[in-house]
Amino acid sequence: MVDVVNVVGARPQFVKAGPVSKALKESDLTELLVHTGQHYDRLLSEEVMRDAGLRNPDINLGVGSASHAVQTASILRGLEDVLIEHPTKTLLTYGDTNSTIAATLAATKLGIPTIHVEAGLRSFNRAMPEEINRVATDHLSDLLCAPTETAMQYLRNEGLAEKAVLTGDVMVDALRSIDLDSVRLPDWAKGRYYVATIHRAENTDDPGRLVAITDALARLESPVHLLAHPRLADRLDSEVLDEHAALQIRQPLPYAEMLAVLARSSGLVTDSGGLQKEAYLLEVPCVTVRQETEWPETLEGRWNVLVDPGEDLVPILERNIPGTVDAPFGDGNAAHRIVKALQSWI
Ligand code: UD1
Repeated sequence: MVDVVNVVGARPQFVKAGPVSKALKESDLTELLVHTGQHYDRLLSEEVMRDAGLRNPDINLGVGSASHAVQTASILRGLEDVLIEHPTKTLLTYGDTNSTIAATLAATKLGIPTIHVEAGLRSFNRAMPEEINRVATDHLSDLLCAPTETAMQYLRNEGLAEKAVLTGDVMVDALRSIDLDSVRLPDWAKGRYYVATIHRAENTDDPGRLVAITDALARLESPVHLLAHPRLADRLDSEVLDEHAALQIRQPLPYAEMLAVLARSSGLVTDSGGLQKEAYLLEVPCVTVRQETEWPETLEGRWNVLVDPGEDLVPILERNIPGTVDAPFGDGNAAHRIVKALQSWI
């Protein structure tokens, strides 16, 4: 019997699982690493795993893209077989994707205790599929590893305090493991530039919002490099883009290169949860095209500002940010705390 089935599936989970998988290896616990195959493009999957120091998965379910119900159901079905064939003491999941909820549900139905890393995050927006995934996962899981004091408070408010532990955020561990000075930057990362990523369904699937966002990016005074997730690339209108020479559409970057490009940039425009935090940790001004954030700590000191799609980004990105950042996300030792919590609980 293995001690932990460690489940990943989408880009941010490879980053989060890297430090945890390493900490498991250094402990006396055994691990079976399962990739659901939710993200399958090399740029979203293998290259991110390599940079995050995540070893090759033992099993890949290869579920690929589909509607929410079909994708979640395929993972549920595939994982049930894995969990029956490979008996385990616990199952570990990360974040808020369809892989997270499906894995948690599959294990729970088989009576296998589950641990949720990055528990307690809330946008309080039930229209987001990710919010449904994280609320359901927290309520089903047996051990909740919260990255911040805010997350702990949300878990207390929902009556989940007894199973929650404050570990800090594994994304700090991941970021600290990269030597940014030794990363080779792409040729375009010179002079003054901004970086942008947009991939949330609420922004990409509403043509009006998407055009408002690309127009606002195109009005910036320095080049903007938009690192397009496949969901976005599918929906961009090439005729509109031809009119916006300053807006450069690029492929997603591997993790280390992404961090290095961000660290050197003059600012970030995004709707990603992870990047808001990485910008904060690297002290890069961030603009988030959403109405709420799961990481309210980044709003302190105006390191991060929430905007509507059509807003003029020039003054917001040029804002003056006095002072330095705090350390609300922990000290970079979250993975060891998670493994310790697991050891004393297993
Ligand atoms: C998922 C997560 C989101 C996370 C994000 C990180 C859910 C509900 N959402 O969103 O929480 O922040 O990952 O990137 O789980 N596609 C490809 N190649 C791939 C993967 C996806 O082309 O390797 C395309 C497909 O057309 C697919 C679309 O992207 O339909 C969306 O992929 P999906 O897995 O549904 O979720 P993400 O938008 O990536």
